[in-house]
Amino acid sequence: MASETTVEELLSELTVEEKCTLVSGTSDPTGRATGYLEGVERLDIPSLGMADGPLGVRIPHERATAFPAPLSLAATFDTELAYEHGAALGRETREKGMDSVLAPGTNLIRTPQNGRNFEYFSEDPLHSAAFAAAVTGGIESQDVVATPKHYVANNQETDRVSVSAEVSERALRELYLPSFEAAVDAGAGSVMTAYNAVNGTSMSEHGHLVRDVLKDEFGFEGYVVSDWFATEGAAAAANGGLDVEMPGIPMTEMANTMSDDASPEDDSVETSVPSEGTADAPSETPESSFETTGAIPDPSTCERFSEALVPAVESDEVPEERLDDMVRRVLTVMADRGVLDDSRADSDSVDVSGHHNHAERVAARGTVLLENDGLLPLADDVDVAVIGPNIDEALLGGGGSSEVEATNPQSPATGIEERSDGDVSLAYGLPSVESVSMMDIFQPETGDDEPTRKPDIENAAQVAKDADVSVVFVRDVTTEAMDRESLELPGRQNELVEAVAEANDRTIVVVVNSSGPVAMPWRETVAAVVEGWYPGQAHGTATAAVLYGDTDPSGRLPVTFAPEEAYPTSTKRRFPGEDGSVRYEEGVFVGYRAFDSDTTEPTYPFGHGHSYADFTYGDATLDDGRLSVPVENVSDRDGHEVVQAYVRPPETTVDRPERELAGFAAIEVPAGDTTTAEIDLDDRAFDRYDESEGWTIDPGTYTIEVGRSVRDVRTEVEVEH
Ligand code: BGC
Repeated sequence: MASETTVEELLSELTVEEKCTLVSGTSDPTGRATGYLEGVERLDIPSLGMADGPLGVRIPHERATAFPAPLSLAATFDTELAYEHGAALGRETREKGMDSVLAPGTNLIRTPQNGRNFEYFSEDPLHSAAFAAAVTGGIESQDVVATPKHYVANNQETDRVSVSAEVSERALRELYLPSFEAAVDAGAGSVMTAYNAVNGTSMSEHGHLVRDVLKDEFGFEGYVVSDWFATEGAAAAANGGLDVEMPGIPMTEMANTMSDDASPEDDSVETSVPSEGTADAPSETPESSFETTGAIPDPSTCERFSEALVPAVESDEVPEERLDDMVRRVLTVMADRGVLDDSRADSDSVDVSGHHNHAERVAARGTVLLENDGLLPLADDVDVAVIGPNIDEALLGGGGSSEVEATNPQSPATGIEERSDGDVSLAYGLPSVESVSMMDIFQPETGDDEPTRKPDIENAAQVAKDADVSVVFVRDVTTEAMDRESLELPGRQNELVEAVAEANDRTIVVVVNSSGPVAMPWRETVAAVVEGWYPGQAHGTATAAVLYGDTDPSGRLPVTFAPEEAYPTSTKRRFPGEDGSVRYEEGVFVGYRAFDSDTTEPTYPFGHGHSYADFTYGDATLDDGRLSVPVENVSDRDGHEVVQAYVRPPETTVDRPERELAGFAAIEVPAGDTTTAEIDLDDRAFDRYDESEGWTIDPGTYTIEVGRSVRDVRTEVEVEH
């Protein structure tokens, strides 16, 4: 291969200093990139720019499409949409002149409180892996380097820079590694290591997991990049398999790439909601501080490659062959994507409104109809009260490095006003629920806080009473660098829902915009509950499309909704840990695997979600590993169904989950028609990881349960192994 020759030729000409430059983060002279390798001018090796993701391309002072959060994307169970999403992200990355996007986020959702769950896909490893692969494939289709992160067991923010995840090899193999392996197989050019340690060794220096597993076993040929300021020992990291150290600049300089105020030349559509007082009422979110979360890295403990690598190679602490391997990986990734010789095909220019429409489609398709007593979809001409503390802003995501300045934010109020043919009245009811963001630590206080509104729940209830239907929007607050304190909705939002429910008996729809489960004490007193996740810039229009039935709510839960104390991580040892360790004692019993082995009924099980259509399942058949399931739409509306296949293993001496997701298919079924879902089941659908034997299929009869959720089986088929 020509690129191989070029890379080897370059390697033979580079000095040790130049090689070290090629693997050391430094500042982008334009101040735009999140991470930057400066290249070697003498040999015409260009620079490499990395921009943050995964909700959109984050470049300071620039706008980009704020896509729905990955959790929302995963709720579509539609990997084609995920590929398109990756391609759109890649296209925007290219158009902004960057070579790599720091996405997708592929950590498994182990605990519902994790502050970054919105950046990840699922509590199930197969589901998570399918989305990791699809998004990676989409990004790479644009000759942009995808960076699945954070390798591995970065499942909480509390103490993320110091905690050691004590996790068994079996749980790593069955739960935490598959999404990374899938992203590697899908062509990821780079992988980012996590801040945390695993079984006592920092992931920046983890020879076993980085070198032996990721590179030797999974066959990863790209470069491994550190998380920002995570590298404590340069030589240990290089010898452990880390190839690139980031960011290589002081925190003060980093702050410039973290500022998030885009230039104000936007034409965003926001609604003016009648004022309900502008006095100094307290914000609905408690003051928060990142000083105590143990999640902010300390740059002074970071040993930079730019300073420490040359002496380490000269003293033979890091063999020069290792340095060559590090450089070879970076140059090969650049060569394969046409970055090295500037031969990349011209990027497609970004169709800004096309990307907005894609964001809207994903947000609508990922919306989960949790409950519906028949009130939804709404008739076009009903009079609607739109209520909630944040109805005048689109919820773009959680706080942190994934924040994006949207191109065209559509608030819930705007979305419904534009769609409705009836009267629309608006009420906040409460002061706005303020976002919390890790990014605030990079921005000095300005001292000119906006005045907050006074709570006025009574007025909201009155507005509800005067309308035919009320739609109440509530939300949680999450950010990188901080876990959720509880699953309660912040502030007095429950009180607001209850007051509206009372005023407007059984004609109330609650739209929850959250990063996962929240407590819903009112759920039996309302007519419909919709989980809309963090929907991104198309918040209002996407939600309206679902509420009015323009889009069938085809989202299904990628995480179990249950009372907080019912999760397997509800002891301090297990989350957030104590004495520097977090013990994954639940082993492989995470998410629905835990609820299936327990007597607790989840509030809403994994895979749950209603459609406006009704489906009847025919008999499943299995032929040569391919499962076929005819699904008839017995309603008079076109619908989307997500057919889910779970495998129940035979009795074994080893404790195995009751059932595990083995495959799924998102299908469209027109009214009155039948569509056959096809799902391929490979060995991974049946095996388990044995710590001495490796992947093992126990002999016996396996039952494949096919249905609408983990708890709603419609047809079964058996297979012998
Ligand atoms: C995050 C990464 C991010 C990096 C650069 C870190 O704090 O963990 O996900 O890509 O910062 O912003």
